Amino acid sequence: MPKVTFQKSGVEAEWDGSHESLLELGESLGLSLDFSCRMGSCTACQQTLLSGDVEYPEGHTGEPDPGNQLLCCSIPAGAADIVIDA
Ligand code: FES
Repeated sequence: MPKVTFQKSGVEAEWDGSHESLLELGESLGLSLDFSCRMGSCTACQQTLLSGDVEYPEGHTGEPDPGNQLLCCSIPAGAADIVIDA
């Protein structure tokens, strides 16, 4: 299982598949992360991905800035650990 690190917050957890998105995982760890639509369209939830790769099971219509990912609708891609600059 990939490990997910929220670097600025100093929090990490294993991705065990019990959350719908990286945003939900962060919230379950007590983080206050930006969001609005939670549907992949507004880009309010975007954060910089420092390491690893994510995928979008349901797709997304909003386009994050280069190097950023939409946390509300993404999950780790494969087994590589994820580091988020949040
Ligand atoms: S909260 Fe709107 S795109 Fe993620």
